[in-house]
Amino acid sequence: MLDNLNNINSEVENEIKSVSDLNGLEEFRLKYLSRKGVVATLFENLKDVPKEEKGRYGKELNELKNLVNNLFEEKKNSLSTSEEKTDIDITLEGRTYNEGTRHLISKALEEISSIFVKIGFKVYDGPEIEDEFHNFDALNTPWFHPSRDMQDTFYLDTKGKDISDKSKTPLLRTHTSPGQVRVMQSHKPPIRIILPGKVFRNEAISARSLSQFHQIEGLYVDKNVTFGDLKGTLDYFAKQFFGNDLKTRMRPSFFPFTEPSAEVDVECFICKGEGCRICKHTGWVEIAGCGMVNPKVFENVGLDPNEYTGFAFGMGIERTIMVKYGIPDIRMFYENDVRFLKQF
Ligand code: DAH
Repeated sequence: MLDNLNNINSEVENEIKSVSDLNGLEEFRLKYLSRKGVVATLFENLKDVPKEEKGRYGKELNELKNLVNNLFEEKKNSLSTSEEKTDIDITLEGRTYNEGTRHLISKALEEISSIFVKIGFKVYDGPEIEDEFHNFDALNTPWFHPSRDMQDTFYLDTKGKDISDKSKTPLLRTHTSPGQVRVMQSHKPPIRIILPGKVFRNEAISARSLSQFHQIEGLYVDKNVTFGDLKGTLDYFAKQFFGNDLKTRMRPSFFPFTEPSAEVDVECFICKGEGCRICKHTGWVEIAGCGMVNPKVFENVGLDPNEYTGFAFGMGIERTIMVKYGIPDIRMFYENDVRFLKQF
């Protein structure tokens, strides 16, 4: 009887080797593992085995059963994985994914901020929805002031709201300057901050202007801050951002919140001052307004103009990037054409 089991052992091992597909495996299962199969039949026979051999026979029969089950499972696994593998054509070309990158405006805001952070400026954030007080009144621009016509404002819907206090009328900020007011109201000098962000103006859309763009505001308030500090700071910025060989210049200008005021030009990056379409043949491109904080503004935010002086500047980001990379049309920033964006 035991010899018989040993023969079956080697027979099973040989047979499983020759199984090469799922049909062959099913035949193997029917022969050995089904209800009328070899293993079940051998268990049936157990009752005819002489008493003294029963123990050993039973043990070896169990081992045979385990062996057959194991061989069956192993074969099943190897057949199913190899059949799956045959479905994959490893010679096919893979799919390519286009990885996104940061938008060039976000990158420029970061780069410009880090240039100022290196010389001790902190980055602040002001709200995009402002009110008349912060956007205009506190900045020495009351409602009748002619410069309010320069910035066509998007006012928000005030239907059903109490706006008896006109200075609380909500609007989309037309510049980042109201952030200056908020910082001066909440911090004691020395204040050295920049405020990057979106601004909104009701403008006709063209190659040079959009109704939404970005600015970075700068403010430095302390005792004895001078116009020389302002000039040195902006010069440092221009050299870091545009490179050492471009000149900057300041032209006298007017802003209600600074006195004196100036506009900052950088030598045209494209023609290096020769004159081209980008710089309207002047050789210079305007990138910022600036000046010494008007004493009236200090009074409006509760700082003593006899104790403190300060400088401020506001820079147009799209304009600045256009100068640096020679981008001819401001609308390209927002069209999301990947062929354009990919270049930066
Ligand atoms: N807010 C001005 C504008 O949007 C720019 C500006 C000019 C900001 C002079 C300043 C400044 O802080 O001092 O046109």
